[in-house]
Amino acid sequence: MTAIVVVGAQWGDEGKGKIVDLVAERADVVVRYGGGANAGHTLKVNGQKVVTHLLPSGVLHPTTRCVLGAGMVIDPKVLLEEILDIEGRGLSVRSRITISGRAHATLPFQAAIDRAANAGPRAIGTTGRGIGPTYSDKSARVGVRLGDLVSSTRARSALEALVDAYKWRARAVGAAEPSVDEALAFLEPLMRDIQPLLGDTSLLVDRALRDNERVVFEGAQGTLLDLDHGTYPFVTSSNTVAGGACTGTGIGPTRIDAVFGITKAYCTRVGHGPFPSELHGTAGDSLREAGEEYGATTGRPRRCGWLDLPALRYAVRVNGLTALAVTKLDILSGYDEIPVCTQYRVDGELTAELPVDDLDRAEPVFERFTGWKEAISSARALGDLPASARAYITMIEERVETRIAMVSVGAERAETIVLGDPFARAR
Ligand code: GDP
Ligand code: IMO
Ligand code: MG
Repeated sequence: MTAIVVVGAQWGDEGKGKIVDLVAERADVVVRYGGGANAGHTLKVNGQKVVTHLLPSGVLHPTTRCVLGAGMVIDPKVLLEEILDIEGRGLSVRSRITISGRAHATLPFQAAIDRAANAGPRAIGTTGRGIGPTYSDKSARVGVRLGDLVSSTRARSALEALVDAYKWRARAVGAAEPSVDEALAFLEPLMRDIQPLLGDTSLLVDRALRDNERVVFEGAQGTLLDLDHGTYPFVTSSNTVAGGACTGTGIGPTRIDAVFGITKAYCTRVGHGPFPSELHGTAGDSLREAGEEYGATTGRPRRCGWLDLPALRYAVRVNGLTALAVTKLDILSGYDEIPVCTQYRVDGELTAELPVDDLDRAEPVFERFTGWKEAISSARALGDLPASARAYITMIEERVETRIAMVSVGAERAETIVLGDPFARAR
């Protein structure tokens, strides 16, 4: 088996960065296929913390090739800062990174509009990184692709269409009107560094797969933030589900061997939108403090709550998950009992399926499972865990009918219990 997609099974921040870094140890290529600098993926190796926003989380393995696919939206300034950060840590990046010229560029005025529109009763609570505007402009066919920026004539003509589309929007929200000259002046120095890194990423990944190399497709955000399958409109603007790996890279679904879903042992969400198993008040605060649940991109406090099994079953379905990693199990140490949402009641009827479009009026039904007191971060095998922590893992595995291949008990690469091969297809 050579191609695996790693996806978030909740509302993002499940620990994808940690798990991708771990599986990338055995990978030749790691591909980001969607989203942009809204992502914040944390890697912790020997006490050193790195947060990737645009670079694939395999970047700390010095020989792993990194690909940024056509489905991404890329803020060139953030990209360059990130490359310089990793180079500053003594690792080469430019020799092993390829960026699709089809990926769309996010420009400062798109981010400004995102932030200006991020208020009022219908606000989504976005990361303010220009994601929604960039994807909307792409769909409206006025976007600017990185490949459009390689010559100043092409760049000028692409930017004219985009800037035109922004003039009235800028006026409507009282923001400064963008100009083509300003945009060119912003882009030109950045593109001197980025242009040599552009390439045909669909071809690169195809060749790697033909050569039987191991390819990891790294999802950003999470299943319930998917534009089509998430809690619309409180979602991001891309397809975060496993299917996005194909469209966002330019390979067919027959090339994917396995889909590895990442879930926390509990649940978090940043931004607005329904979250039925959310804990309010001091209970939510203490879970947030224990789990250090603050956004890796924006620093915003994350909303915290109990694990939602119907939501996880939904993630198994819409992604075709072949295995799961359960992260942050260590954070649940200390509870007498751990409530878990196992069903929903909608119009008086119980269901184990997620009523994804009726979450506002669906009532979560909780079951309580026995907790454990011990710290568990030193566990490296299931047998090192207290019996009730083992039972919690088995319960998840049985209820969502999906094999658990990894249990993460700390942020460090080594703080992991490996139970099976995530690259294997068997469910
Ligand atoms: P991502 O967006 O899915 O990559 O997740 P984030 O990096 O935004 O958030 C996950 C946070 O949990 C990061 O701070 C990680 O370092 C941390 N983390 C990941 N796995 C574990 C774990 O098993 N235990 C603990 N305590 N922290 C973890
Ligand atoms: P990673 O990859 C958690 C959320 C935002 C907001 C909504 C739309 O680190 O898991 P956007 O800026 O994308 O238009 O915001 O999506 N969001 C995330 N939440 N983790 C993320 O990424 C997120 N990326 C976007 O908070 O609710
Ligand atoms: Mg994150």
